Amino acid sequence: MGNIAGLLAALLFRGIRFVHIPTSLIAMSDSVISLKQAVNMPQGKNLMGCFHTPEAVFADTAFLMTLPPQHLRSGLCEIIKNVLILETENIPFLTSTLNTKAHYDEQTLAHIVQAGVLTKQKAMVNDKRERHHALIFEYGHTVGHAIELSCNGRLTHGESVALGMIVAAEISHAFGLLTSEARDMHYRLIHLNGVDIKAPVGTTPEAIMQILQSDNKRGYLHAKPNEIPMILLKELGVPL
Ligand SMILES: NC(=O)c1ccc[n+]([C@@H]2O[C@H](COP(=O)([O-])OP(=O)(O)OC[C@H]3O[C@@H](n4cnc5c(N)ncnc54)[C@H](O)[C@@H]3O)[C@@H](O)[C@H]2O)c1
Repeated sequence: MGNIAGLLAALLFRGIRFVHIPTSLIAMSDSVISLKQAVNMPQGKNLMGCFHTPEAVFADTAFLMTLPPQHLRSGLCEIIKNVLILETENIPFLTSTLNTKAHYDEQTLAHIVQAGVLTKQKAMVNDKRERHHALIFEYGHTVGHAIELSCNGRLTHGESVALGMIVAAEISHAFGLLTSEARDMHYRLIHLNGVDIKAPVGTTPEAIMQILQSDNKRGYLHAKPNEIPMILLKELGVPL
């Protein structure tokens, strides 16, 4: 919802000031930190958008107490991503905190929101348009976005990214980069978060491959015409 508001604020009268008041975990801990404001099109995720900076962000974690479990899990998938790509020292926190029923008190969620905000801020401070170093936040998003689109809303953004991270981990393992233990850590954290690791009903590999052809990271990551660029890890916490 925040991205629609941000995009409309950028378009109205060629740009008006706006303030984000996020109410979901993904919005509070992740998307409002990004200056990207975009909406999806039938051909791909986030294809119509621009950059527009909010004047302020006011996040009240009391909102999260009414957020449905599926959407708490969705936000936590992005937090798992941050830990796998950048903050492996927080793996013990996640293994002791994540639970499949998504039962969390407000204090724990506030801690998670703060961690998400700080991680993204640190990486974006020198890459505000997320074209260089901050592209690591796209981990799991190449296949994840294709799954999300092909599911027509049956899977949340975070659940789709989780499946995309599993694909990225398996690819990296197949290339002899990620060890079996590092790959298995992806499965463990995503299982603990209560996300089913299985191909979603109604999608086919062919449909996903078709969507991957128009992935919006083309042009940011180097790739030949017949290649699909994506972020991989060579070990936990170390992007390729
Ligand atoms: N711009 C970025 O950098 C960035 C980063 C991450 C994700 N995203 C985008 O964000 C989107 C997902 O964000 P989202 O999960 O906030 O989507 P959303 O705004 O659609 O919220 C998800 C659902 O939760 C409900 N909801 C929200 N707050 C609630 C509350 N406090 N209590 C009860 N229900 C509540 C909403 O009505 C909706 O049904 C994806 O489309 C993804 O692509 C963008």
